[in-house]
Amino acid sequence: MALTTALVTGASSGIGYEISKLLAEQGHDLVLVARREDRLKQLARYLEKEFDITAHVIPVDLTDLEDIDRLYITLEQENIPVDILVNNAGLGHWGPFTANDTQKELEMIQVNVMALTYLSKLFATDMVKRGLGKILNIASISGFTPGPYMATYNASKAFVVSFSEALNAELKGTGVSVTVSCPGPAASEFHQQAGTSGSFFLKLMPMMSSGQVARASLAAMNKRKTLVVPGTINWLISVAPRVVPIRVMLFVLKHLMRPRGQH
Ligand SMILES: NC(=O)c1ccc[n+]([C@@H]2O[C@H](COP(=O)([O-])OP(=O)(O)OC[C@H]3O[C@@H](n4cnc5c(N)ncnc54)[C@H](OP(=O)(O)O)[C@@H]3O)[C@@H](O)[C@H]2O)c1
Repeated sequence: MALTTALVTGASSGIGYEISKLLAEQGHDLVLVARREDRLKQLARYLEKEFDITAHVIPVDLTDLEDIDRLYITLEQENIPVDILVNNAGLGHWGPFTANDTQKELEMIQVNVMALTYLSKLFATDMVKRGLGKILNIASISGFTPGPYMATYNASKAFVVSFSEALNAELKGTGVSVTVSCPGPAASEFHQQAGTSGSFFLKLMPMMSSGQVARASLAAMNKRKTLVVPGTINWLISVAPRVVPIRVMLFVLKHLMRPRGQH
């Protein structure tokens, strides 16, 4: 049976935008979700024309659980079953935890953790009933270690890795798989909005394109793999915490991630 419709969160830019393009190229109809409706509409028009698919635009603020309910009810009423769910939307915030904007810290948990969990609950339940479906969650290599000066972000991505691996194991045999992708730095709007552009860590790391991350993530999802880390250097960093003591990791990361002027 074909998996026809894919819902992508955070489709208005970066990795989500590229994932949407690739899914359309593979012949999937799309439900494009983010806050910036104008961007989603522009993308939908382009994808419908270029790939002869149907792209629905549903603006949603993922910090708002009622908005997520509205998305789910709209799809139910319009009889659009979601066969592929891509939980890609996310945000980061760089800086000392005690000085950071409280709202931003909470927003990271709302979007990166709560919305991802709620959407997985809603759509995985339906997929299991139909006996078919795929979920792709975008975490980060940050999910493998605690991150000084990005404490909430790294913790939120650690949740995504753990949650996805557990759910995939739980759903074995149901026809529904969960894949988690853990990219390293990628060119998108992320670093500008997170304020990380000036960090020493980012200067040291290779930067992949959003398209490369999207391709590697979708390839893993299509093979129903549990976890993928796009890029060889990123993969090496992801396995480092298995061999390097955590206090050493924290010492190094604290110095690499330290904003100017912090002790
Ligand atoms: N870029 C990197 O270096 C990198 C590395 C590892 C992991 N990641 C992860 O990759 C994912 C995609 O990030 P990206 O790099 O493509 O960043 P991006 O270009 O900033 O895209 C983030 C997307 O999330 C959406 N979003 C943010 N807050 C939202 C909200 N409250 N409601 C609805 N949508 C919201 C944004 O849409 P609107 O603003 O239109 O709402 C946008 O489409 C994130 O989960 C990020 O943590 C990124």
